[in-house]
Amino acid sequence: MSNLTRIGVALDAELLDKFDELIEQRGYQNRSEAFRDLIRNELVEESWKSPDSEVVGSVTLVYNHHVRLLNDKLLDVQHDHHNAILSTLHVHLDHENCLEVLLIKGKAGEVSRIANALISTKGVKHGRLTLSSVGKNLQ
Ligand code: NI
Repeated sequence: MSNLTRIGVALDAELLDKFDELIEQRGYQNRSEAFRDLIRNELVEESWKSPDSEVVGSVTLVYNHHVRLLNDKLLDVQHDHHNAILSTLHVHLDHENCLEVLLIKGKAGEVSRIANALISTKGVKHGRLTLSSVGKNLQ
């Protein structure tokens, strides 16, 4: 890191104890790296609020493939957005349940719309979108 700046932070001792406990549980070697990750996370989350910001998202879907036309509906959504969907992973969890993970890249608004279309499809038992950053503006 070439532009490293040191800052002092005043914290309540009890709050600092809880923070140290938390970062130890999460495997951080020191407070500085934990602070950096917290700040990056806030910056990334803030960027999602702008519908035009570039994001990557992973959508996890669990569904029963025996539900009539469900596979076709999910595939229709994916083909409608083939430019944004980078990759899909499909795992047959058991005789009837499927797990699908889709990686989507695009503007935050578009990624959310695609994810919502997939997750709200009738027959999807559980769906979740996890957003992340394309990494360009993060140090
Ligand atoms: Ni399957």
